[in-house]
Amino acid sequence: MTTIMDRANALLIEFEQNANSLEKVTPDTVEELRIHWLGKKGIVTKLFEDMRHVPNEEKRDAGKSMNVLKTSIEASLDVLKSKAADFVFHSILNRAPLDITLPSQKDTLKGALHPITLMQQKLLKEFRQHGFTVYDGPETDFDFYNFTALNLPADHPARDMQDTFHLKTNQDIMVLRTQTSNIQIHAMLQEKPPLRIVAPGRVYRVDSDQTHTPIFHQIEGLVVDKKISFADLKGMIQSMLHSVYGATAKTRFRPSYFPFVEPGAEVDMQCTHCQGKGCKICKNTGWLEIGGCGMVHPNVFEAVSYDSEEYTGFAFGFGLDRMAMLNWQLPDLRQLFEGDAGFQSQFSVFAEGAPC
Ligand code: PHE
Repeated sequence: MTTIMDRANALLIEFEQNANSLEKVTPDTVEELRIHWLGKKGIVTKLFEDMRHVPNEEKRDAGKSMNVLKTSIEASLDVLKSKAADFVFHSILNRAPLDITLPSQKDTLKGALHPITLMQQKLLKEFRQHGFTVYDGPETDFDFYNFTALNLPADHPARDMQDTFHLKTNQDIMVLRTQTSNIQIHAMLQEKPPLRIVAPGRVYRVDSDQTHTPIFHQIEGLVVDKKISFADLKGMIQSMLHSVYGATAKTRFRPSYFPFVEPGAEVDMQCTHCQGKGCKICKNTGWLEIGGCGMVHPNVFEAVSYDSEEYTGFAFGFGLDRMAMLNWQLPDLRQLFEGDAGFQSQFSVFAEGAPC
């Protein structure tokens, strides 16, 4: 009668034959082999179950030879597993190489600069040519810079024109700036006149509908010198708009009120969507408001200790989003903020002028 020991020895030989006859040593074939031999219903497991029938005096030796069988199979499986890992590694290496320098497939989306970035760079290029310096300022700012120094003391009714996000602080009142005009104050406190700056940036107001978003973009301009007049302001704005929209672009100035300028005006551009005929975008008026402007109010000069007898200046603030909308005839302002890749891919990868 064959003993468990004999069977164990015979099985070890059988396992080795089995292992040697594998056609391919892959993670799958090795796993199959493991299950066949060591799995829950595997050959070795069954043999262990048969131990019950072995007479007590033989149990010790039978157990020993079974453990030898099991550990030998485990060791062989380990060797096979690492061979299988090599197989996977080499098959990856042998795949057709990926050439990342090849042009992308036809229908894949290309990256592009955001229309607001494109518009900003277009404008900055124009202003640089007129000798303007590009300035930057904080988006979270003290009430002083966003309002008080701009001739908007606390309780001034015009503060309500700009619904403001207030920040919780233990110190002075802070806000998310409602306009890039805060940069006028920062710049004038840092520089002595004459001054010629332009400052693009993000601004915030509690406002949201089809033509308003709580975050939007403005570009501020400030020129301070001796004998600056409203004619300089009009000339500068007109030349800027012509350079962006072409010589046929029509603009108009409407008297308006901003506490930090006197006189003040709103600038409208003829709607490029309908050429002034009237459409949904311009609410049938033929015109679209793109910003405000005016001559710097003497109280603003006072707040930054500029001599308002000696110097005059003009300031303007335009909506970059509005200007982009007009330039590319976009029907909905919100498209600019949705991050839709298909929309975005229609724009240029190249900016006009130097990056900033
Ligand atoms: N800051 C004003 C606004 O956001 C625009 C403006 C800037 C008006 C400079 C006059 C001068 O509405």
